[in-house]
Amino acid sequence: MIQIAVLGYGTVGSGVVEVIETNKADINKKAAQELEIKYILDLRDFPGDPYESKVVHDYSLILNDPEIEIICETMGGTKPAYEFTKKALLSGKSVCTSNKELVAAHGPELIKIAKENHCNYLFEASVGGGIPIIRPLNYSLTAERIDGITGILNGTTNYILTKMDRDGADFEAVLKEAQEKGYAERNPEADVEGYDACRKIAILSSLMCGKNVSYEDIYTEGITKISSADFKYAKQMNKSIKLLALSRDSEEGFFAMVAPFLISREHPLYSVSDVFNAVYVHGNMLGDSMYYGRGAGKLPTASAVVSDVVDCARHQGKTIMCFWDEEKVDVADIRCAKRKFFVRVPGDKKDAAMAAFGALAEINVGIAREFAFMTQMMTEKEFDGKIEKIGGCINRIRIMA
Ligand code: HSE
Repeated sequence: MIQIAVLGYGTVGSGVVEVIETNKADINKKAAQELEIKYILDLRDFPGDPYESKVVHDYSLILNDPEIEIICETMGGTKPAYEFTKKALLSGKSVCTSNKELVAAHGPELIKIAKENHCNYLFEASVGGGIPIIRPLNYSLTAERIDGITGILNGTTNYILTKMDRDGADFEAVLKEAQEKGYAERNPEADVEGYDACRKIAILSSLMCGKNVSYEDIYTEGITKISSADFKYAKQMNKSIKLLALSRDSEEGFFAMVAPFLISREHPLYSVSDVFNAVYVHGNMLGDSMYYGRGAGKLPTASAVVSDVVDCARHQGKTIMCFWDEEKVDVADIRCAKRKFFVRVPGDKKDAAMAAFGALAEINVGIAREFAFMTQMMTEKEFDGKIEKIGGCINRIRIMA
C-alpha cells in the first residue's frame, strides 16, 4: 500500500480525492498496489465532509510521517508550495503537482532535487489540465527535434473568447460565469492578462529545449483589449480570435510569446472552443500532431495529478527521466519576428495608413468613422514604427500564418 497526502483541499485537491475514490479499483490495478489518502492539509476545517477526519493543519505531520510516499501539491502559488515541495523531495517523498506557477518558477531545481533523492517531481496537470502533454513531450516524441509549439493553454480566456465570438457576449459577464464554473484563477488577472498561459508555454518550451525558458523572458499580452467589434471583423475575414501561446525554434533564434491572434477556419486550433485547450506540436520527422481536451476544471485537472501518482507508484525508488536543465535559453526579441497584422485606425487616418503601409484593401463591416485593413508580412519592429508614424491605432491583432 502507498499512503498519500494532498496539500490544499480546494477545487483541484478535492478533485484528486474524488478521482482516487471513484476510480479506486482501476487506479489500484494500474498502480499495481493500493493507494490510500492518509492526510489532507488545509488551513480550513471541513465539518461534515466525508474526509473530515483526514484534514490536518500542520505540514510537519506529513513530512515526518515515513508512511507518506507521495504528496499531491494542489495549493497553487509559490508560497508555501515551494518550501513544502522542496522539503518533501529532500526527504525522498515524490510530489505530483498542478501548480504551473511553481513549476515555471522552480521546475529545473525541483526536478534535480527529486533525482538526487531517488524520487519524482511530476507536473502533468500543470499544463493543459487533463490533456496528456507533458508525458508525450517527455516519453513519446523522443525521436523528434521539436521546433514549434502553438497552444491554446488557458481555459478561462478560451471560454470567454468563444462566448464573445458565438453570442456577441460581454467580456465581464462571461468572466464571471467562468469563475463560477471553477475555471478561472483566484485572481482572474492571471487568466485575462495571459500570465497563466505564459507560465504554461514556459514549461512546454523548456521541455522542448531541454533547458530553462524563463517565463519572465516571454512577451505576454492578454485579451482585455479585444472587443465585439474585433469579432465582427474576424467573422468578415472568416477567422476567429484566440489567445495563443507559442514557441518557435528557428534559425533566427528561439521565440516565445503569448498574445491574441486571428486564426483562419482551416487552422486545427480554430475549432478548439469553450474551456477546451489544445497543443499543436511540430516535430522535424513526425510533422504536426495535436493534443486536445479539457484544459481546466476540477476533475480533468485532478485526473492528470492522479495519473502522475500512478506513475510514481510504478517507479518507486526510481526517477523518471525529464530533460529540463537549469541552463537558461536565450529568448529572442519578438520584434524581429515577421507576421501580418490586422489593424483598425480612425477614419481620418486612412490616407496616412495607406501612405505608411502601401495600397490596402479595406475590410468593411459597417462601423462608422474607422478604416480597417490587413498588412503585408513585416517584422514587429517595422510594424510598430509605421503605427507610431501615423499616431497610433484603435486596435491591432496579429495574424497566425
Ligand atoms: N485558470 C486556468 C485556466 C486553470 O483557465 O486554464 C487551469 O490551469
